[in-house]
Amino acid sequence: MPRPDTAPRRTDDLRQIDLAHHLHPFTDHAAFANEGGGRIIVRGEGIWLWDSDDNRILDGMSGLWCVNVGYGRRPLIEAAADQMARLAYYNTFFKTATPPAVELARVLAECTPPGLEHVFFAGSGSEAVDTAVRLVRHYWALKGAPRRRVIIGRRHGYHGSTLAAASVGGMAPMHRQGDLPLPDFTHVLPPYAFEYARPGEDADAFGRRAAAALEERILDLGADRVAAFIAEPIQGAGGVLIPPDSYWPEVQRICARHDVLLVADEVICGFGRTGRWFGADRFAIRPDVMTLAKGITSGYVPMAAVMVGERVARTLIDDGGEFFHGFTYSGHPVAAAVALANLALIREEGLVERVAQVTGPALAQRLAETFAGHPLVGEVRSCGLLAAIELVDNPATRRRFAEPGKVGTRCRDHAFAGGLVMRAVRDTMVLAPPLIITEAEIDELVTRARAAIDATARDLGRL
Ligand SMILES: Cc1ncc(COP(=O)(O)O)c(C=O)c1O
Repeated sequence: MPRPDTAPRRTDDLRQIDLAHHLHPFTDHAAFANEGGGRIIVRGEGIWLWDSDDNRILDGMSGLWCVNVGYGRRPLIEAAADQMARLAYYNTFFKTATPPAVELARVLAECTPPGLEHVFFAGSGSEAVDTAVRLVRHYWALKGAPRRRVIIGRRHGYHGSTLAAASVGGMAPMHRQGDLPLPDFTHVLPPYAFEYARPGEDADAFGRRAAAALEERILDLGADRVAAFIAEPIQGAGGVLIPPDSYWPEVQRICARHDVLLVADEVICGFGRTGRWFGADRFAIRPDVMTLAKGITSGYVPMAAVMVGERVARTLIDDGGEFFHGFTYSGHPVAAAVALANLALIREEGLVERVAQVTGPALAQRLAETFAGHPLVGEVRSCGLLAAIELVDNPATRRRFAEPGKVGTRCRDHAFAGGLVMRAVRDTMVLAPPLIITEAEIDELVTRARAAIDATARDLGRL
């Protein structure tokens, strides 16, 4: 076994080794190799990243929607170091626990919406979603309704990459690989007004129609076959799809009427992103189960959690016997200690309130004034610090480009070259900066986004 070589390497060496040995997630490996590999990110501070050539990049995506408190925060670093020194690992199987895991369970029960008093820990959002799927099916079996197995998700939903999470998700390219979705997963119309509203249909009417699609599917299947509806309050990776106000109250009513459990996947929306602690607070959703990850530790270490409401928890605890499910890293003490420090920082710095009152409105205003009338922009929308810019061939008619995704990728590359991480979902540019971003930094972010979109428009001969 060769010893790992920890001497600093030059960027080109790192790129070559990366290409030779490292299979990246969600990457076309041949195309990546043709481009000569990627950037090597070496350092982060606040909302900024530095690459190995010392370029400074504004991280408009908080990593992958997760670095809520920004990079380099001492309280999180110290919490990890202290906990590693005291007890680097112990599990929560077999009647044991650790102080940080216990305390985090209490804090989560306190900060999540009322009625979610129990938590099951996991290591990633995908594991949390898998846990939720097993939990709701187990619940119905315990209730004497084992036929209630079907999980309803939505098109463009993203819930992770494990077999069950990818099956809940409604991403067609993912389903085309590996024979997915698994049986008993189905998908309905998402509340994506820009894409699916009919000409002349107002947002609220469309929101009710999207909710009605859920009810139709439940009736088609037979409610006695449906275990749960799983949905993100705002669909993130699908393109920051912000539902009209009419949508969630209807969904809540439909789930209650057909006794279908409601699982809110808060992996992106949780921990302040929308200007409330949770998307469920923002849209007055009362979920039976809630999945959490990403912002729970601001991405400093992997951790996820499933909040379990009274109805499901009571049955699991009183009638469930042993629940044969769990992960080596469920309730990892270092991750739990970092989560506690992270949540304390979010509270102390009033970040959720700042997003609601200052930075969320500032981002919305700057995007609206910057892109009004732009020849490539069909719509800008935002909620808190989640935003989307729709690039279209014809803004007046909302006509899409002939080859979906090509223009978005080009724009993303312009942004990166100009020192901004902005992601492309097909031709929708999305932003989710760290919650610590200042108003001056929002100006900088929007200026860089505009430069990237202008450069794209010039490539297409539109400017
Ligand atoms: C809403 C949602 N759920 C689940 C996941 C999966 O999380 P992970 O990548 O940690 O498995 C993601 C990841 O982006 C997500 O956005």
